[in-house]
Amino acid sequence: MRIKDKVALITGSASGVRPQLMGFGGVTAWLFSEEGAKVVIADINAKDGETTARQIRDSGGEALFNKLDVTNESDWIKSIKSTITSFGKIDILVNNAGTTARENVENTTIEMWDSQMEIHAKGTFLGTKSVIPELRRSGGGSIVNVSSIAGIIGSHSSTAYHAGKGAIRAFTKSAAVQYASEGIRVNSVHPGYVDTPMTHNVFSDHNQAKQRTSTIPMGRFGTAKEIAYAILYLASDESSYVTGTELIVDGGTTAH
Ligand SMILES: NC(=O)c1ccc[n+]([C@@H]2O[C@H](COP(=O)([O-])OP(=O)(O)OC[C@H]3O[C@@H](n4cnc5c(N)ncnc54)[C@H](O)[C@@H]3O)[C@@H](O)[C@H]2O)c1
Repeated sequence: MRIKDKVALITGSASGVRPQLMGFGGVTAWLFSEEGAKVVIADINAKDGETTARQIRDSGGEALFNKLDVTNESDWIKSIKSTITSFGKIDILVNNAGTTARENVENTTIEMWDSQMEIHAKGTFLGTKSVIPELRRSGGGSIVNVSSIAGIIGSHSSTAYHAGKGAIRAFTKSAAVQYASEGIRVNSVHPGYVDTPMTHNVFSDHNQAKQRTSTIPMGRFGTAKEIAYAILYLASDESSYVTGTELIVDGGTTAH
């Protein structure tokens, strides 16, 4: 019960349907519920989002689904209002929604660039901006932004993804400094390679998986649960003196 009676809104958490392959948001929603929190599953995918929330409720947890496009400010206003109406407050926001665009600089179109900056940079900004008044009302809170090792290092592709994830990293520190005195902590998590619905088509390919794992000192992909535990630590009061940090969870990939 590490976050007992806290209320958490998690974006991109529709991928929590049992027994399917889950993403970070889905696994985090289950873990948060097991640790005593009330969870809001916020996603553009209504079908899986509703199912995830229902399955958590059927297992004895408290969960509801909100249809939320993180790039849309009025969706944020509605979602926060619905969270307050149902659960009375909000303590934790996890900005996790994301997509990919795997192209080098010359093959990155303006549309790809804009959509990556929209979902990662603008989505995280809007979520943070929208939730701060409610965290203030709760007497403080924790915002956890899911960036990536791609927000720290480069690669041969995914140009706009790197830029969007890098924006999350710097934005996190900016917000952390601005709201530290109000007890609102803002941190980023930087996962390495994990098999999720977003990466499955690439990481389930034997040759691609072999090539990737050869760059990981631990010699294997991470699991969504290993990422969720890092998010849980930053969301909980166990990290009460931690703000503006970047928690890398990558099996040592960026250590060399
Ligand atoms: N899987 C990895 O190896 C890896 C590594 C580092 C970082 N990440 C990041 O982790 C986060 C979660 O990804 P995942 O791998 O669990 O994949 P995922 O596909 O399971 O999760 C992404 C979720 O975001 C939702 N989403 C997409 N656009 C949205 C929007 N505009 N508004 C609201 N929701 C939206 C999707 O419906 C989906 O449920 C992403 O930000 C991703 O970039 C993933």
